[in-house]
Amino acid sequence: MYNEEMLKSMKKLEETRSERKKQKLPLLSPEEKKELLTKFHPDYKPDTTRKMRVGANKGENVYHEYANLFEAFGSIDPGTFKLGGFDYDVDVLIIGGGGAGAAAALSAHSQGATVLLATKLRLGDANTMMAQGGIQAADKENDSPDRHYLDVIGGGGFHNDPDLVKALVMDAPLVISWLEKLGVMFDKEKDGTMVTIHGGGTSRKRMHSARDYSGGEIMKTLRDEVINRKIEVMEFSPAIELLTEKNRVTGAILYNLETEEYIIVSAKTTILATGGSGRLHIQGFPTTNHYGATADGLVLAYRAGAKMAFMDTVQYHPTGAAFPEQIVGLLITEKMRGLGAQLVNKNGDRFIYELETRDAEAAAIIRECEERNLGVRTPSGMLGVWLDSPLVEEIHGKGTIKKRLPAMYRQYQRFEIDMAEVPILVYPTQHYQNGGIAINDKAEAGIKNLYAAGETSGGVHGRNRLMGNSLLDILVFGIRAGKSAAEKSKKTKSGKLTLEHIKKYHAELKKARIKEVKHSPIILPDYRREETKARHVGIFEGGLA
Ligand code: FUM
Repeated sequence: MYNEEMLKSMKKLEETRSERKKQKLPLLSPEEKKELLTKFHPDYKPDTTRKMRVGANKGENVYHEYANLFEAFGSIDPGTFKLGGFDYDVDVLIIGGGGAGAAAALSAHSQGATVLLATKLRLGDANTMMAQGGIQAADKENDSPDRHYLDVIGGGGFHNDPDLVKALVMDAPLVISWLEKLGVMFDKEKDGTMVTIHGGGTSRKRMHSARDYSGGEIMKTLRDEVINRKIEVMEFSPAIELLTEKNRVTGAILYNLETEEYIIVSAKTTILATGGSGRLHIQGFPTTNHYGATADGLVLAYRAGAKMAFMDTVQYHPTGAAFPEQIVGLLITEKMRGLGAQLVNKNGDRFIYELETRDAEAAAIIRECEERNLGVRTPSGMLGVWLDSPLVEEIHGKGTIKKRLPAMYRQYQRFEIDMAEVPILVYPTQHYQNGGIAINDKAEAGIKNLYAAGETSGGVHGRNRLMGNSLLDILVFGIRAGKSAAEKSKKTKSGKLTLEHIKKYHAELKKARIKEVKHSPIILPDYRREETKARHVGIFEGGLA
């Protein structure tokens, strides 16, 4: 399975292990970090962004992959689409069935609002379910929300929205106890206190976890609660356009993927919680994200006039799997490095302190492979560096990996790799949408009656998010969005349902001489090869055409 180069390099890694274990690498100075990022982080590559030609961010730099979606036409023609009545009339419509959507639904429901949660796939099919390492909260004696605040701001390159960061860190301890009350089983010490470890860029051990399936544990608890409370959920029904009356959002058009019917929802308030965009494969990177992460909420909000924040930056998780080929791009949790696993190059040497912020870690791995030629090449030609996983066992005792990282252990066992015995190969992978719909601390999205929460929103993490602040973000802002929207709905009457904003947006596209070639949101990624795309398979017309 391993080629000769890999085997030779693994031997070097083993030879250097005992010396490396004692080695202390310094943190990067601000100047060193800046140089590393500008030379090697993918955000800084030339020609990766372009200036938007239309919409609220006109003139601002946006990654091409996002701009392509924003500068596309809607999939329905606002001139001919029939908008007679509505199929649902609710106080709060939530679009998205991940952690932020579920938290918003619970919070709005607790306020007495009527809620409809519509989701593209199934409730819980989301990045939340796949989150591994943990959730940050400053709830121990040696820690405080202001320390957490400083870490978040430092991690984000001092670009974060301070009000959002304040909300994030102040609500964090409350979120942990809310989750516990709902039934989330966090890792505990024998005396009942929470197990907490460091993540990259944290000054205190505040990462709470449920083994290495923290997101799964949280998501299934939230999902059970939504179901137990009998909140209405509509699955396989993505939103394809918002509805508006003048400058306020009044509902949305959903599209049932199974029946191919449109569903019209009139809503006093609407919350976008559609998650991230890993499936855009920005700059050709693989991704840790779930199949539905296609930036739908951004597109809908942008057409309605919402402003986006930080659309020129993306988080590449430093340690995506680089071998074996079947799992390339999947997440290798930062918790590994939190537990002491070291990053090691072809020669068996460390090249960066392992708990720098993610942007710096990713840039350092790219430098090692691309500039220094010290990456390890796999049989399929991919480059990567080692993550010395057996070191975790040396530091914490035999059996630690199996006990504390059981999902990861099993993932490699499927390929007959025992990561407690041999290192694993890693390379950066597209992980997180740093930017998104600009919101305030009430989760308001800058357009009347529209709210956004979780990965689809932007601002709280600045230009780089720290580990464990995403699970926190979806809950803090999901709960806030649900509360704000429910309160607003009490003072709001249902509005007219029109597509006037789409007419206006299409006119703007035409004025900018953008041809109607592309349509968005894309709903699902298209992985067909060019030659198969040409084939027409008429599934709904009765089989192969
Ligand atoms: O590495 C991880 O476990 C990822 C966590 C996160 O993105 O917060």
